[in-house]
Amino acid sequence: MTQDEMKQAVAQAAVEYIKPKLGKESIVGVGTGSTANFFIDALAEVKSLFDGAVASSQATAERLKQHGITVYDMNSVNEMEVYVDGADEFDAELNLIKGGGGALTREKIVAAVAKEFVCIVDSTKKVDVLGEFPLPVEVIPMARSQVARELAKLDGMPVWRENFVTDNGNLILDVEDLEITDPKALETHINGIVGVVTNGLFANRGADVILMGTENGVETITL
Ligand code: A5P
Repeated sequence: MTQDEMKQAVAQAAVEYIKPKLGKESIVGVGTGSTANFFIDALAEVKSLFDGAVASSQATAERLKQHGITVYDMNSVNEMEVYVDGADEFDAELNLIKGGGGALTREKIVAAVAKEFVCIVDSTKKVDVLGEFPLPVEVIPMARSQVARELAKLDGMPVWRENFVTDNGNLILDVEDLEITDPKALETHINGIVGVVTNGLFANRGADVILMGTENGVETITL
């Protein structure tokens, strides 16, 4: 099975997982990335079962609209049953690194609103210790160098993602070579650096369930 086939299988499994939770008034939170794209395509098949979606990026909003799914502004939504999104890495405690696609801030906002965060991944995303994947940090442009100096004190190497601007008009620093033994503490610490919008650790609000596509089918992982 190819990685794309695993992503497709897990996207389909996510639709089956959320189906019983949906009602005519339901709003589904939808993430960003290649796995989330497969999810959007599968979600379109059941679009009559729910009201609409909130998108975690402009790219996701476009894809949802192409499928005829109504996209709501986050500010007009009070309640969201589920948020479905991919991840770049996850560990046994369901902590995540996200933001490979640069949508981390909006993803974190949607995850914060949702009652349940369903994370969809293929088995290549599983790690013992987070940090092999460079940790994305969204920064206000004028703070880029100052934040990079602060991040360098964490024993990681911040690298400016050049020629990339987030949907919020900000920049991304990818911190390489981190060994993240306390994801919650590191998430909080980095978010406290002046000029940081947010970082790609989803630990204080991690996933509630992970659906993982493997060679032998989809595994459901909870704590
Ligand atoms: C987007 O900013 C990320 O958080 C994605 O959720 C993450 O990069 C996973 O993407 P893939 O499904 O393409 O691996």
